[in-house]
Amino acid sequence: MPLGERPLIVMAMEAEAAPVRSTLNLETQSEKLHPAFTSEIWESTHVCLALNGQDQRYGVDSIASQPAAITSMLAIERVRPSLVISAGTAGGFVKRGGHIGQVCLADSCYFHDRRIQLEAFEAYGNGNYPVVDLGDIGKSLGFQLGAVSTGNALDATEADLVRMDSYQAIAKDMEAASVAWICEQFNVPFTALKAITDLVDSDESTAEQFVSNFEIATQRLSDATKELIELITTEGEDYAIRT
Ligand code: ADE
Repeated sequence: MPLGERPLIVMAMEAEAAPVRSTLNLETQSEKLHPAFTSEIWESTHVCLALNGQDQRYGVDSIASQPAAITSMLAIERVRPSLVISAGTAGGFVKRGGHIGQVCLADSCYFHDRRIQLEAFEAYGNGNYPVVDLGDIGKSLGFQLGAVSTGNALDATEADLVRMDSYQAIAKDMEAASVAWICEQFNVPFTALKAITDLVDSDESTAEQFVSNFEIATQRLSDATKELIELITTEGEDYAIRT
């Protein structure tokens, strides 16, 4: 199936998703994906967007890895997408050319905090899931290509940083590798598109940077998502699955 036939965008925060829905004209009423979960989906004839929804206990957006996996699974079962894009904000790295608002497209995807010092489980912990090759598209749109790395914390420990240096991560998020794992189980092509809100290797606190730069990054993310969807949709067969 051509990658642009039925792309699915999976997101975690409503404030990141709202501008994306608006640029993609996904303004219809959402539908819940499962009675027990808050995951919801917006669908049009050419693109779908799934969101984790708010945590029922804490009343905040359900960020991080478990909700990302549940939403991805429910949405994939429903729409049978041609491509899944984990979209959102991420931390970047000054030492690898990162800057606020930079748009990053995955060429690989790992977990950086699943440290399991048992030989048979090390590779399992790291993930390194399949990512569809969108390098030509990414370059043509001016996106930075590289490793997207996932963990369940907004900050990073020394061990996390060492792990991310080992594969030269350009974007640190809290969902992409979970989505990638589900995609691999369903044999659906996967990528991640991330806009940088904060620089992991700067002296300023991650949380403060995140809040100050959120608006500019989400604007860049919604523009970039639209550009990517338009390109894979209009180029059609040129971007049939290459695995
Ligand atoms: N989302 C935005 N910035 C992030 C960071 N530094 N780590 C994880 N997720 C993020």
